[in-house]
Amino acid sequence: MNQLKQQILNLQSQSQPLEPNEAQRAAYLNKVNTYANSFLNSIETTKAFCSDKETPHVFKLTNNTKSIEEILELYANEVAAKGINAASGGHLGYIPGGGIYTSSLADYLVDVTNEYTGMYFSCPGGVAIEHELLNWMKSIFKFPESAIGNLASGGSIANLIALTAARDKHGIKNAIIEKSVIYTSPQVHHCIQKALRIIGLEDVQIRYLKLDVYSRIITADLEEKIKKDKEKGLNPFTVIASAGTTDTGAIDPLQDIGNIAKANNLWYHIDAAYGGFFILVDKVKERFKGIEMADSLVIDPHKGLFLPYGLGAVLVKDKEAVYHSNHYRANYMQDAIDDAMPVNPADVSPELTKHFRSLRLWLPLQLHGIDPFIACLEEKLLLTQYFREALKRIGFKLGPQPDLSVSYFWWPTNNNNDNAFNEKLMEEIHNDGEIFLSSTLINEKFVIRMAILSFRTKLTTIDKAISMIQKILNKMNN
Ligand SMILES: Cc1ncc(COP(=O)(O)O)c(C=O)c1O
Repeated sequence: MNQLKQQILNLQSQSQPLEPNEAQRAAYLNKVNTYANSFLNSIETTKAFCSDKETPHVFKLTNNTKSIEEILELYANEVAAKGINAASGGHLGYIPGGGIYTSSLADYLVDVTNEYTGMYFSCPGGVAIEHELLNWMKSIFKFPESAIGNLASGGSIANLIALTAARDKHGIKNAIIEKSVIYTSPQVHHCIQKALRIIGLEDVQIRYLKLDVYSRIITADLEEKIKKDKEKGLNPFTVIASAGTTDTGAIDPLQDIGNIAKANNLWYHIDAAYGGFFILVDKVKERFKGIEMADSLVIDPHKGLFLPYGLGAVLVKDKEAVYHSNHYRANYMQDAIDDAMPVNPADVSPELTKHFRSLRLWLPLQLHGIDPFIACLEEKLLLTQYFREALKRIGFKLGPQPDLSVSYFWWPTNNNNDNAFNEKLMEEIHNDGEIFLSSTLINEKFVIRMAILSFRTKLTTIDKAISMIQKILNKMNN
């Protein structure tokens, strides 16, 4: 017995570093805080992109431990300094993320307390916070109180949860998969196609709809395609609209699509991961008319509410459709189950154990109120106009007036060589890196995209982008 006790005590002392004492914690925190401050204090002058693609081998795990100083140095040089600086206001590519500081404080708290928020039983307060946020979103998007929702890791998983519910509501199983049809925009985010494959719907028929010059779905095409498919004996079951496509920020005609969905008994899903929270801005609210008609809706706080990566939300009106695949009971969970309790997040998502991610949204909302978020969203819309006007003055061609804060432009050449010239321009912009932009293809045309969504993107950022582009253009044209 003594020997056993001794072995346990030996192991206890070996594992002691896993529980630093208060002085050690303070020392760690101090170093991390110093680094975080130097990162944030220099963010305005740090480049938004570093094209160094060398794979760092410096992260190889070895038996030699490193000090916190060494680890922070590696982090600064090999993680934060390379690729896209996603915390920078100069990130105007893809869909920029955010990274508001007060969310990181929430993450720190939830990691220290390690609350288990998959089940109401284990953390009623944490789950109540998730429900409060979902109820708040339901009220913003005029969803009924009876709708169910989940805070997922991002838009991809949120979309996956919604499409699974659509599949189960319409009973799309093996025998009818190949006959079943989904309608959507060719600009739909690729996480939709990914989700369909993951949930066993790879072989459904996807009808990509025609778009107008604003890249919005043409509803007459939707109606015609549904009609033809029905005549052929196929099984139309879902239509997916976007409230802010990734390519161009287009908002599909949500209300008209909603009416068509209703008339044809289709599940109506809206991916508003990028654009959804712009509904809070009075002057563009109208553009979201019809969003309340969706059966399921995805909105991403780590995009439109400027949170650090790791928070997407899904709302679904039909609780049973979501429960069909996600609600499970097991003997070892018997103490934690009481059907009279509020909904368990684990019953609405493939995740059981989950990061307590609701606090990273609730804490900043409580601390700052919603107004600074709305102001920031409106600022992004105006900055988009400001950027477009400046580009036009320089001589760029612009894509159509955008619905939100994504737009595109290209340099017109005299010799029908637009694509090659703009590809080169993109490359030079990336080599410079002061501001990061990305590109896309619109009707086979290579165009440069601006996506303005970071809370750190300010007037000075856009002025910097304009000077950088002008400088590169001068170099290329000489
Ligand atoms: C419209 C849209 N939907 C879905 C996604 C996927 O979201 P996530 O990257 O959070 O998984 C994105 C990402 O940019 C998006 O823009």
